[in-house]
Parts: sequence; structure tokens; C-alpha cells
Amino acid sequence: MADPVFAATVKVLLDKLLSLTIKEINSSRDCNEDLEMFTQNVSLIQAFLHDVETPQVEKQQSVEQWLRRLERVAENAENVFDRFKYESLKTKVMNIRNSPMKKVSGFFTHTAFKSKMSRKINSINKELTAINSVAKDLGLHSLIVPSRKIFPIRETDSLVVAPDVVGRDLDVAEIKEKILKMREEDVVMCTIPIVGMGGLGKTTLAKRIYNDEHIKQIFEKRIWLCLPEMSETKSFLEQILESLTERKTEVQRRDIIVKKLQDELGGKNYLLVLDDLWCVDSTSWHEFVDTLRGINTSIGNCILVTTRMKRVASTVATDLHILGKLTEDHCWSIFKQKAFVDGRAPEELASMDNKIVKMCQGGNKIVKMCHGLPLAASVLGGLLHNKEKHEWQAILDGNPIVAGEDDNGENSIKKILKLSYDYLPSPHLKKCFAYFAMFPKDSKRSYV
Ligand SMILES: Nc1ncnc2c1ncn2[C@@H]1O[C@H](COP(=O)(O)OP(=O)(O)OP(=O)(O)O)[C@@H](O)[C@H]1O
Ligand SMILES: [Mg+2]
Repeated sequence: MADPVFAATVKVLLDKLLSLTIKEINSSRDCNEDLEMFTQNVSLIQAFLHDVETPQVEKQQSVEQWLRRLERVAENAENVFDRFKYESLKTKVMNIRNSPMKKVSGFFTHTAFKSKMSRKINSINKELTAINSVAKDLGLHSLIVPSRKIFPIRETDSLVVAPDVVGRDLDVAEIKEKILKMREEDVVMCTIPIVGMGGLGKTTLAKRIYNDEHIKQIFEKRIWLCLPEMSETKSFLEQILESLTERKTEVQRRDIIVKKLQDELGGKNYLLVLDDLWCVDSTSWHEFVDTLRGINTSIGNCILVTTRMKRVASTVATDLHILGKLTEDHCWSIFKQKAFVDGRAPEELASMDNKIVKMCQGGNKIVKMCHGLPLAASVLGGLLHNKEKHEWQAILDGNPIVAGEDDNGENSIKKILKLSYDYLPSPHLKKCFAYFAMFPKDSKRSYV
């Protein structure tokens, strides 16, 4: 599998090479044609690299080999450029210091060096051309748009089985209070962002509020949208209209969409949930909100946003609802719901051995492993549903991967949390993150 950290490392290396060559092209005339060719080749490969991290491609072993080959060439190129830089600098210094005779001999050694370098860069270019054509054979796409701009589409819906949600009563009360307060204060519309890491239960909380009986009474219209990126206001308005009319809108002018929205929403209070927003720019957001305010001028409308990204939350509002972790008791209760039929440990399991009995009584070890993350509790519970004693034992020994070998429960936690890694804004940050992953948990470092 093409390791995403490895892909990030190669990207950083190529970025560094590009900046080195561009500086070199600007500052000296040596080997410029070869260097320009090199820059073109690397830029082409970078476009393929954006595709390497897409989920369909990520798992191909041949892509991993392709990356390794690219890394070798990039390292080789780095060495060549280092040497190149060193020699150019040395020649400059010698020219300043030396007599005219020495300058002539220096010229000849420099010319010999230049042709040697030219040969080396040429051979790197040939290898890069080959790597480029292998990329095409592997079916990699040349993505000019950086991959971080492609946001995950994970469609959610507004339905929820109420008794399943635990430990969020305070959050629900707090958000409802904010909504009621803004109605009292005659505010036309308020935006409440729920922010927190992946799997913390933002969507679950938003669903709880969306389906709350009191909320249903307050808001005549409720709209649930799950769109990762707000770049164009019109498409957001279009989606709201589609959701309200439950009909696909034909391609229409913005003006017509806004008029139709006015027909649907005019004079009615609405709650709009934007679930899982990853990216929004301030201008688009304010344009969007202004348009909504124009469509419906009555007081007491609300937009609820869920997001992992604090900067998204701060773009849409100043008062953020930062979601906290669940208590151990609540995690244990989620775990039990998933692991046992009717949420109760079966007799035969409870009597297996002491450790399991203890765990079934308090869930101690299991809940500690969840770190207050409902997703982890839910996935671990599902993982151990109908499992044998040795698999429970593997969990107790702190090795959920073993327990999940024949299951993809563990993978699903990683997959969900890895999204946050995938959408870090630059390969440098990814590399930095990977660097920290080398240190054991809780280890203290006084330097970075
Ligand atoms: N309070 C809760 N009680 C019971 N289960 C919960 C609770 N919160 C979350 N879960 C469960 O945890 C899982 C993850 O929750 P959810 O999808 O709401 O997280 P999220 O914060 O929206 O994650 P993401 O950032 O990936 O969108 C879901 O399967 C959900 O059922
Ligand atoms: Mg969510």
C-alpha cells in the first residue's frame, strides 16, 4: 500500500528540488536547458502525486514501487544539485581571489565540471521521463488541482434513533438555549458551529437537535445538507432549494433560484444544518448568509454547522460550540450497546475469566482505550460483538488490531480519523505530523 506519509515525504523532497533548481536557473547560466527540462519533468510528476493519495489509488502496491523509484531519483538529484551548488560557489570565490592565469585554468576545470553535471542531470531527466510514463501506465491521473482541495463526500442524513445517543444532554440544552436567546433578542439569523475532532459525535449531536420535538415546533422548515466545501454560493442555494422541494433543479439563473427559495422560505422560520463542512472562504460565506437574510427577513432562523476545522468554525461565527469528549461511563454504555445483545454481557462471556468479568463489570480497560471518543466505543463494541474469548483477550492486551484482523472495525476508525491527516493543508505539515508519530505516546520532548 502506498503509505501516505511516504507520499508526503516525496512531495516535500520534490518541492525542495524545484525551489533549488529555480534558484539555480535564475542565478547562473550553467546547464540551464537541462535544469529547465528537469523542472518540467518534476512538475509533471507532482501532478501525478496528487492522485497517489486518493483512496482508489492509495492501496496499489505498484504505486508504492513507483513512489520508491521516484524517491531514489529525487535523492540522487538532490546530491547532484548539492554538488552543483558547491562547485558554482567555489568557482565564484576563486574568480574573486585568483590571478588571471589561475582564472583560465579555473575556467577549464569549471567547463569540464559543467559537462559532467550536464550528463548527470540528463540521465536524471531520462529516468524522470520514464517515471512519468510509468505513472500513466499505472492509471494515475495528473491532478493539477492539489488533492487537499478535493474534499471528502460523506453523505449523512438527518435521521437518528434517539435512545442510542448518550451523554449529550448538556450540549443539546446549551445549543437550544442559544437558539431561544437569539429569538428573544430579535436576531434574524444565527449561526452555531459545532466543532471537534473526527468521531466525537458532532453529526450525532446535530441530528439530536434537528429531531428534537421542541426544535420541530420552533422551525417550520428544517433542511439538512452535507456538502464539504462552500466555494460557490449559487450551488449551495440550489441544494437548499432541492432539499425543500425534493426535486432536482434544472440549470437556472441565480435570480430564479433565489425567487423560488423566497416562495419556499418566505415568512417561515427555518433551521439549516450544514453537516461536515471542511472548507469555506469568508467572502462566500458572508455572501451566502446575506442572501439568506434577504430571502427571509423574519427573526429566529438558524444555521447549525458541524466541522472538524476550527478555522471553518471561526469563519462562520465567533461563538463556537466546542464539543467535549464523552465520560468513561458514557463510552462504556455505547460499547455495551454494540458489543452485547440488549446491551448486557452474556453469562458465558462474563464467566470466562477474571479479567473479562472485571471488564464486563466496569469496562475499565475498554473505555480507557476509547479516550472519550464515541466512534471508538462504537467501533470497538461492534468489533467484539459475537467474538471469542481470545479476541476479547487481544483487546485486553491492548492490541485491537489483532482482534480486528478478520474485521475492518479497527480500520474504520483509522479510515475516519485519517481524513483529518489527508486534508492537512500541506505536505510539510503531514511530514511534521509523521515525525511526531515516531515518539511513543505521552513521551516528553524538550525539542522539536
Ligand atoms: N453521544 C453519542 N451516543 C452514542 N453514540 C454516539 C454518540 N456520539 C457519536 N456516536 C457514535 O459515534 C460514531 C461517530 O459519530 P459522528 O458521526 O456523529 O461523529 P462526527 O464527530 O460527526 O465525526 P466526523 O468528524 O467524522 O464527521 C457514530 O457511529 C455514532 O453513532
Ligand atoms: Mg460528522
